Amino acid sequence: MDIEKILEEAVKQIKESDGAEKLNEIKVNYLGKKGELTKVLKSMKDLSPEERPKFGQKVNEIRKSIEEKLDEKKKAFDEAILKEKLARETIDVTLPGKVVKQGHLHPNTLTLREVEDIFIGMGYKVVEGPEVEFDYYNFEALNIPADHPAKDEQDTFYITKDILLRTQTSSVQVHEMEKGELPLRMISPGRVFRSDEVDATHSPTFHQIEGLVIDKGITFADLKGTLQVFAKRLFGEDTKVKFRPHHFQFTEPSAEMDVSCFKCGGKGCRFCKGEGWIEILGCGVVHPHVLEMSGIDPEEYTGFAFGVGLERISLFKYEIDDMRLLYENDDRFLKQF
Ligand code: DAH
Repeated sequence: MDIEKILEEAVKQIKESDGAEKLNEIKVNYLGKKGELTKVLKSMKDLSPEERPKFGQKVNEIRKSIEEKLDEKKKAFDEAILKEKLARETIDVTLPGKVVKQGHLHPNTLTLREVEDIFIGMGYKVVEGPEVEFDYYNFEALNIPADHPAKDEQDTFYITKDILLRTQTSSVQVHEMEKGELPLRMISPGRVFRSDEVDATHSPTFHQIEGLVIDKGITFADLKGTLQVFAKRLFGEDTKVKFRPHHFQFTEPSAEMDVSCFKCGGKGCRFCKGEGWIEILGCGVVHPHVLEMSGIDPEEYTGFAFGVGLERISLFKYEIDDMRLLYENDDRFLKQF
């Protein structure tokens, strides 16, 4: 039997094989229990005793050669697979990265932070009060007794006869005064509620920032000076302020403060509706009766208060012409800030 032929044929098949599976097949066919070489070994009994060892040795050499060739080819396959895998997994570090979407602070948050910084810088503390409030704190203690027409000006969401959603952050004034820790310098930002229809300038819920100062010898001049500094810090040094007489139940005298339009400098433009001025807050000297109701002696202490609409300032500052945009959380809107 030409066992060299077996080797030749095996080597040829190994060379032409296309993967590990095929190699396994070849291995079984040639080296397995029923393989070619085993068959050959079985035929050894026909040989003479002299020839047998030589033949056996030969078969072993051929087995070894086939094993070597198989190993070699297997290695080549493994290397090719690894190479292909590495090529597939290479990262092109020069490719531009994917842009990760970033969150944005809401214009109201930005405005509030600025306002808080200004007042903290002037020695004010920032306090919070409840959104669900007793009628007493929202109205009565602010000089707006039951059946007073001023109560109708703010369309109130009532929960019970005595409990309501606060219509103004002025209620926090009362809580703070009741603590009796004087002198007092505070601002109180928060959500307020009024049963208004939604439109470009109204919403059933919006935010106010209340301010209250109580000390000995506080006058309207302190109020003017403080709010002038506030307006200049918030809208720029060139900003002018104007106080127009007004009426609030809990202050006397009372005023509304306008700031010169930062867009046109007061000449009049689309933004200030040709007025040159924009109203931003209500204010006044705390009514003696209000002090008294909260246990403060109006002969000893006086104070001033103010209430700012947060949305109003945000709309003005960021030139937004529809309040609804502030509540819709539209990503395309928010990412501009
Ligand atoms: N609470 C008033 C409102 O909602 C705003 C206000 C006016 C607050 C005058 C004050 C103030 O503290 O002194 O319309």
